[in-house]
Amino acid sequence: MPLVSSYHLIREARKQGKAIPAFNIHNLEMIQAVVQGAEEMNSPVIIQTTPGTLTHAGIEYVGVIVKQAALDVRIPIALHMDHCPSYETIVKCIRNGYTSVMIDGAHLPYEENVALVKRVVEMAHAVGIQVEGEIGKIAGVEDDMFVNELEAHLTDPEEARQFAEETGVDSLAVAIGTAHGMYEGEPHLDFARITKIDSLVEIPLVLHGASGVPDEQVRKAIELGMAKINIATELKDPMAKAIWHSLSHPKENDPRHYMGAGREAVKQVVKEKIRLCDTVNFADFFKGRQL
Ligand code: 13P
Ligand code: ZN
Repeated sequence: MPLVSSYHLIREARKQGKAIPAFNIHNLEMIQAVVQGAEEMNSPVIIQTTPGTLTHAGIEYVGVIVKQAALDVRIPIALHMDHCPSYETIVKCIRNGYTSVMIDGAHLPYEENVALVKRVVEMAHAVGIQVEGEIGKIAGVEDDMFVNELEAHLTDPEEARQFAEETGVDSLAVAIGTAHGMYEGEPHLDFARITKIDSLVEIPLVLHGASGVPDEQVRKAIELGMAKINIATELKDPMAKAIWHSLSHPKENDPRHYMGAGREAVKQVVKEKIRLCDTVNFADFFKGRQL
């Protein structure tokens, strides 16, 4: 089916105590792995790209390939721009078929963040595109963005309420103890903070930095209101390991073999994460509904 908006997917997931898994992809094989994995699990899914991926792969290529991948299957697929700091890039994404965008102004002072996000919301809503904002600052590495422990700060619940109301965003990324990339020790999510934010903010919440978070903690975060779960590093790692393994045969030179092995490894993780988000067969719920 054609690409869909993530709006109803995320809202319905929240109502039913589930979350929509959102996977960061970097190349053709990762797109295929996500789509095949989601199709086998009969789950809706969000495919997302960072600005770095668009520099690597080209926005037009990504748009066309994901659009075609969605047309080939009967599950709902949304295409989302992740951590975009630029208004102009967001306009390009929308022109290339993206169905939602994240404007990331978390590095800006509060007032400037609000002003940028409001401007994006006004433009995007005029053409039916949903917007994710971020308040608080998530630690770790994503693309060229590095936020160290000192710069990072957890979301203030009252500020989150104010930010959501002032900007009109459709969903909100919050910093509640996760970080981008893998963890040195075990992360400890601030569940009391999620509960407080969820009680003050009406729109669905988004969990970034889900790679490496123990399953029980992700499940609890979903129970408490996280309705979109972002996963990047946990797809990159198996891809790299599978390719290394294939290339350990000195005569291997066929990209279809080693990239194929990478794709298969990614697909297995995609299926595990879909189980974790409790969206196996959730695609059935959306059959015949306007998305
Ligand atoms: P991880 O790389 O930690 O999974 O983070 C994903 C993310 O938040 C993408 O926006
Ligand atoms: Zn993120």
